[in-house]
Amino acid sequence: MSKALVAYFSVSGITARLAERLASAIGADLHEIQPAQKYTAEDLDWTNKKSRSSVEMNDKSFRPAIADKVENMDQYDVIYLGFPIWWYVAPTIINTFLEAYNLEGKKIIPFATSGSSGMGRTNVELEDSCKGADLMDSKRFHADAGIDELKAWAEQF
Ligand SMILES: Cc1cc2nc3c(=O)[nH]c(=O)nc-3n(C[C@H](O)[C@H](O)[C@H](O)COP(=O)(O)O)c2cc1C
Repeated sequence: MSKALVAYFSVSGITARLAERLASAIGADLHEIQPAQKYTAEDLDWTNKKSRSSVEMNDKSFRPAIADKVENMDQYDVIYLGFPIWWYVAPTIINTFLEAYNLEGKKIIPFATSGSSGMGRTNVELEDSCKGADLMDSKRFHADAGIDELKAWAEQF
């Protein structure tokens, strides 16, 4: 039987709550992707071109360091990968996460929350970081998407 992991990055807790609901809806393990250096409110100021998030997101090759690692990634065949949309794509820490593992043969299923944007070019930017894996269609959810909606979506994979 295939085993699923819900891994997520979340700064203000919106994606975290969605990821928790998803994991409990489908009986998956849950893992938080934690940055080595936490993002402060100042770091997240998208109106400031010099804020940490603006500078990082302007450089697609930048890989923010991660503090933790999934134990025994080999046991998972399916990874639901959650994050907030930043500048119309996934935060580059999601690329850091993907590049830290051998993902051969796994299914990667991105999902996100956002203020209002859809997934935009998210998968285009993630593709090169998913070597050997199947990168599936990604989906943006409303912050309060319920268990039934999440379960129905997740079970199609
Ligand atoms: C640096 C930054 C960039 C963002 N860019 C977008 C965007 O392009 N489109 C959008 O709809 N929301 C954008 N947002 C809003 C977040 O996607 C939204 O608040 C998300 O639900 C936060 O999730 P979290 O609580 O899990 O961190 C941005 C937020 C930040 C901090």
